[in-house]
Amino acid sequence: KPDGVLAGLRVLITAGPTREALDPVRFLTNRSSGKMGFALAAACQAAGAQVELIAGPVNLPTPIGVRRYNVESAQQMLDKANERVGKAQILIATAAVADYRPRAVQDDKIKKSSDSIALELEKTPDILGELSRRETHLFTVGFAAETRELERYARAKMQRKNLDMICANEVGPGQGFDVDENALLVFWPGGQQQLGPRHKRALAGELVDLIATRYATGDEH
Ligand code: PMT
Repeated sequence: KPDGVLAGLRVLITAGPTREALDPVRFLTNRSSGKMGFALAAACQAAGAQVELIAGPVNLPTPIGVRRYNVESAQQMLDKANERVGKAQILIATAAVADYRPRAVQDDKIKKSSDSIALELEKTPDILGELSRRETHLFTVGFAAETRELERYARAKMQRKNLDMICANEVGPGQGFDVDENALLVFWPGGQQQLGPRHKRALAGELVDLIATRYATGDEH
């Protein structure tokens, strides 16, 4: 039996960006590198958990001992999460899922014609929100990437998505996305804690300790 603060637990993690297709060769995406999510996967594994990692397109090696599933779009990430969530006790959603996708995916490459074109976008499914509402046994940890009013927006997301914990990070040029360091302001109902700034690998270890403490405190699990 493994030692560690998450020994015997199954953790499902989403990481990286999603790609939302416009046509066969083009997509909408964002600057997430997957570093934060992959660091958490490694830290959960080191803490004794069985870890499954659903990753958008990133250029990172799979942490040793972690089971990885590659996906592209928000819909594919949701489908895989639905398939894998059953046995998990903890869900950590670090993925920077696209909030909108093109309403129609063109079968053929879009041709250059007029001087400007308009793209119609529709909402993608809210993976974390759907799972936390349906899987009431799950301990859910969300992330909130904000450029301003970190605390207010993060707390609103925690409530709206019905989460047990949310990790807010300030993002912008050279901050949060695609860099090695990060800082998190973590909120849960009844408390908060600042972690970092430090390397995402060290930060992930501290966050795992906090998640384990909060998980053990909750009596609904
Ligand atoms: O990947 P890195 O380069 O290391 O960067 C790390 C990070 C900045 C991407 C990460 O720390 C982070 O903040 N991830 C969440 C980014 C985000 O898109 O947050 P959000 O505020 O849009 O979403 C809130 C939460 O809902 C997140 O947990 C997100 O995974 C989840 N979500 C959002 C939209 C959606 N359709 N489905 C979701 O599950």
